[in-house]
Amino acid sequence: MTEVIRAEGLQKRYGATRALDGVDLSVPRGSVLGVLGPNGAGKTTAVRTLATLIKPDAGRAEICGFDVVRDAVQVRAKIGLTGQYASLDEELTGTENLVMIGRLLDFPRAEARSRARELLARFRLTDAAGRAVKTYSGGMRRRLDLAASLVNRPEVVFLDEPTTGLDPRARNEVWDTVRAVVAEGASVLLTTQYLEEADALADRIVVFDHGKVIAAGTADELKAGAGRQTLVVRAKEAHRTEQLTAIVAQLTGEVPDVVAETGLVSAPVADSGVLASLIRALDGASLGVTELALRMPSLDEVFLTLTGHSAEQSARAEEKITEGSLA
Ligand SMILES: Nc1ncnc2c1ncn2[C@@H]1O[C@H](COP(=O)(O)OP(=O)(O)OP(=O)(O)O)[C@@H](O)[C@H]1O
Ligand SMILES: [Mg+2]
Repeated sequence: MTEVIRAEGLQKRYGATRALDGVDLSVPRGSVLGVLGPNGAGKTTAVRTLATLIKPDAGRAEICGFDVVRDAVQVRAKIGLTGQYASLDEELTGTENLVMIGRLLDFPRAEARSRARELLARFRLTDAAGRAVKTYSGGMRRRLDLAASLVNRPEVVFLDEPTTGLDPRARNEVWDTVRAVVAEGASVLLTTQYLEEADALADRIVVFDHGKVIAAGTADELKAGAGRQTLVVRAKEAHRTEQLTAIVAQLTGEVPDVVAETGLVSAPVADSGVLASLIRALDGASLGVTELALRMPSLDEVFLTLTGHSAEQSARAEEKITEGSLA
C-alpha cells in the first residue's frame, strides 16, 4: 500500500454551508500533505471526516486501505489526531496524561508508562513530566498534545493547525517534532494558516476554498503556477536610484516599488526575458548594480492569487463571504 490517505468526492453540508464540496486527496506513505485555506474553507471538516469523527454525506475515503465509515474501528487504530483545540487534562501531569491515553488504548500499565517516558523524552518534556499541564507554556502543551497523538504508534497523523498561536521559537520546536514523526515512518496531514509552515514541512500542498481543492502541487509548483515573479534590483550609487527606477518602469510597464532607505527597486514581471533586456539597458547606461534578481512569488503571494485574499486577511474575508451568502 503506497497511499495511506485516499479521498474521492467527499461532501459534507451543514444546512446551506457546503463545508466539503467534492474533495479528492491522495497522500503517499511517508509524506507530509499540507492543507492550506482561509477560515471556514473546510480544513477541519476534512480532518474530522478522515479521522472518523464525522461521516461524509457523499464520497468516500480510505486510510491505509480501510474505509473511514465502514471500517472506522480499524481506521482509528491506524491514526493519531491532534485537534485545533488541545485535548489535554489540565490538572494531570504530562506523564499522567500520556499514561492515561495508553491505558485507554489497553496497554498494560508498565507499557503505558514506558511509552509515556519515551515520548516525553522525544518531545523534550522529561523535566516537566511531573508537573500539572496547567503550568506548561503554549509550546509545551502543543508538544505534549502531539505526543498524545502518537501513543498508539499511528501510521497516519492528523495535525490541525499544530502551531497556531505559538511564537516562532516554539513553532520551530513543533516543526522539529513533526519531522521526527515523519522520520519514524508516519505520514502526516497538516492543516495550517502559516504558509511558511507548509513551505517548510509539506511535500505537497493542497489549497482549500469553499470546501473545494482549488490548487495542488509542491510549493515550487504552486509558486511557478502563480506566474508573476518579482524583479529586484539596487543601484551601486544611491543617487542613480531614480534613473534605475525609470529603466525598470520602461522595461516592465509597471510602476516599480522603491524602498527609499535601501534603494531597492522591485517590480512584477510576467516574462523572465526582462532580465536580459535589463542587463543590456544597465550596460548601455553604465549603471552599476549591487543586487539583481528574479524572485519567485512567496507562498503568501500564491495564496493571495488563488483565494483573492492573504492568509492574515482570511478571517475578515470569511465574514464578508458569510454575509454575502446570507444576502
Ligand atoms: N458542526 C458544524 N455545524 C455547522 N456548521 C459547521 C460545523 N462545522 C463546520 N461548519 C461550517 O463549515 C465550514 C467549514 O468549517 P471548517 O471548520 O472545516 O473550516 P476550517 O477550514 O477548518 O476553518 P478554520 O481555518 O477557521 O479552522 C464553515 O463555514 C463552518 O462554519
Ligand atoms: Mg479549522
